[in-house]
Amino acid sequence: MRTRKFAAVAAGLTMAFALAACGGEGAGSGNDSTDAPAGGGETAAAGDQTIGVAMPTQTSERWIADGDAVKSQLEEAGYTVDLQFANDDIPTQTQQIDQMILQDVDLLIIASIDGTALTSQLDAAGAAGIPVIAYDRLINGSENVDFYVTFDNYNVGVQQATSLLVGLGLLNEDGSENPDAPAGPFNIEVFAGSPDDNNAGFFFNGAMDTLKPYLDDGTLVVPSGQTEFDTVATLRWSQEAAQKRMEDLLTSTYSGGEELHGVLSPFDGISRGIITALQGAGYGPTLEEGLPVVSGQDAEIASVALIDQGVQFSTIFKDTRKLATESVRAAEAFLQGEEPEANDTETYDNGVKVVPSYLLESDIVYADNITELLVDSGYYTAEQVEQGS
Ligand code: BGC
Repeated sequence: MRTRKFAAVAAGLTMAFALAACGGEGAGSGNDSTDAPAGGGETAAAGDQTIGVAMPTQTSERWIADGDAVKSQLEEAGYTVDLQFANDDIPTQTQQIDQMILQDVDLLIIASIDGTALTSQLDAAGAAGIPVIAYDRLINGSENVDFYVTFDNYNVGVQQATSLLVGLGLLNEDGSENPDAPAGPFNIEVFAGSPDDNNAGFFFNGAMDTLKPYLDDGTLVVPSGQTEFDTVATLRWSQEAAQKRMEDLLTSTYSGGEELHGVLSPFDGISRGIITALQGAGYGPTLEEGLPVVSGQDAEIASVALIDQGVQFSTIFKDTRKLATESVRAAEAFLQGEEPEANDTETYDNGVKVVPSYLLESDIVYADNITELLVDSGYYTAEQVEQGS
């Protein structure tokens, strides 16, 4: 945002000296000192502007898709893009963002690894007048988060739990009560995402609020007794850690012949770890053959194929193309000196302020709507679904 940028002249000078001292003039970034309109308020052409895009990891395909979609849509709009992935390593991400600020990018789009670890980067961005858009994951503890684009994360959790209830026969796919529902009780276990990711709590709360009436009336039971977020969280959303926890639960709680019927899983990678553990303990291999109902998130192709094969029960489809489009829209607004349009100005308090947000809707994927949701929309081809890659 040029207007804000030029208001921060002193800070900008500091950055310029830092740049000069390092000799580190970044590609496409040298124009800021020469094209500054004297009075501010003038906007530069997109072609002169560079946007730094920081993504968490390439180990999960959703973030690769996000990175690709944001980069290509920004480039189509005429911007130069510096896209970085950080291997789920916090120091790598902070260095990448430091570097982008040093190169004087015009705007930052950040999907954080740890939502509390970027305070000094955001301080520097704020001082340099660089607008920051939090992408999918809220960045906490800083006033320099200008906008947040994401999905309705609480509702994602509601959808995950709803799909678990559908899989157990308690609800119909449209969310209505099944009049012929089996009485239960059903044994379930619950998993949550990474405790340093602000989204994980939203998913878990949405899911547990949805399961609560069934837990309260005894239709659902958690035999391990592990229902607290801190106990069931999975650091860095790790598939291996989830598999290990599921194996441990099977040994500690189900070795006496108790049967497990369902598992709340917040992410497809975690779901696959859980399924591996279950199959290793003799469940399944398919739902029809007694594999517990396992939910998911992200519609990763490997999980969509498992759903198609009757192994994983469900996932949540968050169309990353739409998220990219919203982040580009917000970026363009800032770079033209305007405020992007928000549709939620209440939910996302980052501890310092409520960050204006744009929330998108997600969909539950079951075996019978894969084609409608994922193939017809061009997200995957039918061959990809069949091959799982
Ligand atoms: C995202 C989810 C994703 C998870 C693990 C969360 O922040 O919102 O879509 O499953 O990270 O990558």
